[in-house]
Amino acid sequence: MAVHNSRMDARERARAFELTRAPADFIDDPYPWYAALREHDPVHALEGGGVFLSRYEDALALYRDARASSDKKAEFGPKLGDSPLYEHHTTSLVFNDPPLHTRVRRIIMGALNQRAIARMEADVVKLVERLLDKMAEAREVNFIDAFAAQIPIEVIGNLLDVPRAARAPLRGWSVAILSGLEPTLTPAMHEAGNRAVTEFVAMLRELIAERRKHPGDYDADVLTRLIQGEQDGERLSETELYHQCIFMLNAGHETTTNLIGNGTWLLLTHPTELARLRADPALVPSAVEEMLRYEGPIQLNNRRLTAPMALGGKPLPAGTSITIGIGAANRDPAQFPDPERFDAARKPNRHLAFGQGDHACAGMNVARMEARVAFARLLPRFPKLELAGTPERDRRIRFRGFKNLPVRIEFHPKNGVRPRFRSTEASAAPLVQHASSIANLGSRRCHARHPAR
Ligand code: HEM
Repeated sequence: MAVHNSRMDARERARAFELTRAPADFIDDPYPWYAALREHDPVHALEGGGVFLSRYEDALALYRDARASSDKKAEFGPKLGDSPLYEHHTTSLVFNDPPLHTRVRRIIMGALNQRAIARMEADVVKLVERLLDKMAEAREVNFIDAFAAQIPIEVIGNLLDVPRAARAPLRGWSVAILSGLEPTLTPAMHEAGNRAVTEFVAMLRELIAERRKHPGDYDADVLTRLIQGEQDGERLSETELYHQCIFMLNAGHETTTNLIGNGTWLLLTHPTELARLRADPALVPSAVEEMLRYEGPIQLNNRRLTAPMALGGKPLPAGTSITIGIGAANRDPAQFPDPERFDAARKPNRHLAFGQGDHACAGMNVARMEARVAFARLLPRFPKLELAGTPERDRRIRFRGFKNLPVRIEFHPKNGVRPRFRSTEASAAPLVQHASSIANLGSRRCHARHPAR
């Protein structure tokens, strides 16, 4: 890329940057663009009056400021019209302010505590072992379909206790609905998103009616919690209920798939770091944080100012729409020494991959647990793992990941090691032994409700 070699070129690059007309090389490598913006135009004006933030300090200040609204009605009205996609994206907690946001977040968080996550971990370990067994037979796979996507489908499906038979369309719906958030939306994307919301709601209508008749465990089942609302609190309306469920099912799917996919690609293209991790599996938790920093699955977040605010020394009026460049902030040299280096042992690593502030990702520890189990089991199992062709990127800007990650596995049964069950997170370890007994109770509950499992 000759354009960003000189200082002048970087300045030009920053001035010309438009999210709705992202340059051809942006998806493959957005980082030179982010670097140019951070250096030359950190509060960059976009066409239409919004701004793009690329520095860590500004992003953090905005995330933590009460003037930063997450309500997207003003933005999505003109973009999505009166449509199922508009109803979904303006009702889910992530794009709402208090009071709806506070109520829904409290309900959800109650089912995503450390104890609940430790209980999920036992099932994830079993699933990962099954997936690895299958991959060993195939020898060459699209790693996204064969492994990375399978783990979140299972975890999120279990979290809302969606019957297995109803899970197949979830991943496609999730991609179609989240594509509605791209800076540029084609009519085909809009139509696919609307269809996905409509079909999703129809599935949920039946599932919720069934769950009302046979409630699950309030402590563990997110759907039962959402239906019953906060004890002694107000209940969600039927529409609110559908859209929180859709959001939960979507939020943990593609994001976690891409964390595991991007992380694997990073290891395969950074052999020294891969060797380091193989030699010292205790580095898995810090390697996962570095994967999140270096190639985060969500690259952009948005806010709208409810009152004037200055960012990076620039005064911005109330109503300004702001795009937070998460991927840009995560490579800011003012926060991360040697930020272009992928360092599996990096510490501290206060990346913004999960956002920050009131809307910080509610499922971050679920995603971490999934990725830690995945890498802790994958690496010892396959001593030789390599790219088997050119990966194909998903060509979206907000979400960063691969559609196809061809991976070749050389599996020697004598060398392949099946590690004994062990928590990947030191802090969760004492919970895990206890969790396996709770997990058995949990799966009995599921079997009783869905005998097909
Ligand atoms: C690597 C995987 C993941 C990434 C990178 C990720 C990223 C994010 C980000 C950046 C936000 C903040 C959005 C904003 O402030 O506008 C968010 C919110 C959220 N995420 Fe995640 N997420 C991941 C996995 C998950 C999982 C597994 C779940 C569910 C189990 C989940 C549930 C949520 C929820 C409910 C919110 C909304 C929180 C709120 O508005 O208060 N996420 N996520």
